[in-house]
Amino acid sequence: ERQIQIAIDGPAAAGKSTTAKQVAERLSYIYIDTGAMYRAIAYKALKCGINLEDGEALGRLLSETDITLKQGKDRQIVLLDGVNVTDAIRKNDVTNNVSAVARHSEVRRDMTLRQQQLASKGGIVMDGRDIGTSVLPNAELKIFLLAGAEERANRRHAENLKKGFSSDLENLKKEIEARDRMDMERLESPLKKADDAIEIDTTFMTIEQVVEAIMTNVQERI
Ligand code: C5P
Repeated sequence: ERQIQIAIDGPAAAGKSTTAKQVAERLSYIYIDTGAMYRAIAYKALKCGINLEDGEALGRLLSETDITLKQGKDRQIVLLDGVNVTDAIRKNDVTNNVSAVARHSEVRRDMTLRQQQLASKGGIVMDGRDIGTSVLPNAELKIFLLAGAEERANRRHAENLKKGFSSDLENLKKEIEARDRMDMERLESPLKKADDAIEIDTTFMTIEQVVEAIMTNVQERI
């Protein structure tokens, strides 16, 4: 059985990380959540009071920043310069500012290199926005996960409440739409389905069904 690269892209809250994690588990592959890496640098930039319009400053900050992803018991642990920021990077201030950080070419170039290095180690499932189009253009399997905006907001709302975060559904919907718009409209490696990606609309699917659909495509390739 050969080890392949699986790229999973799509808009915010389409179910990428949940399904990617499960696919990786089934295959005993490494799972990389690239959104967590962008969140980590956004978190640090906010903390350091860096102007988020200043791509050069953000690139400099990133060049002296260590971001390590570790496989925890049932979730990925994110270490920022050795400090566990797994929960901190999911908070609203990071979520609402991460796209502004991620749009700069200085940031994307550095992140892309880091992600390519992480992927060079064998079987990998990587989720993000530009994995199939830019980070791993030769991935054997590319998936583009979609879901209606309403459904995505509902899912994220339920997730927030479960985590004990305050959450307002209408507000959440606006924030998700604003983030998607920024991710799609940026100049450098925008959110976009790769020509050779398989599109899966998860609006009316369970997580198990999405995982099965992806696994069927994996079986055809290994
Ligand atoms: O996946 P998640 O929602 O955690 O991603 C947070 C943000 O990070 C995205 O909205 C996007 O701005 C940025 N991102 C990106 N490229 C990736 C992954 C995430 O620009 N490959």
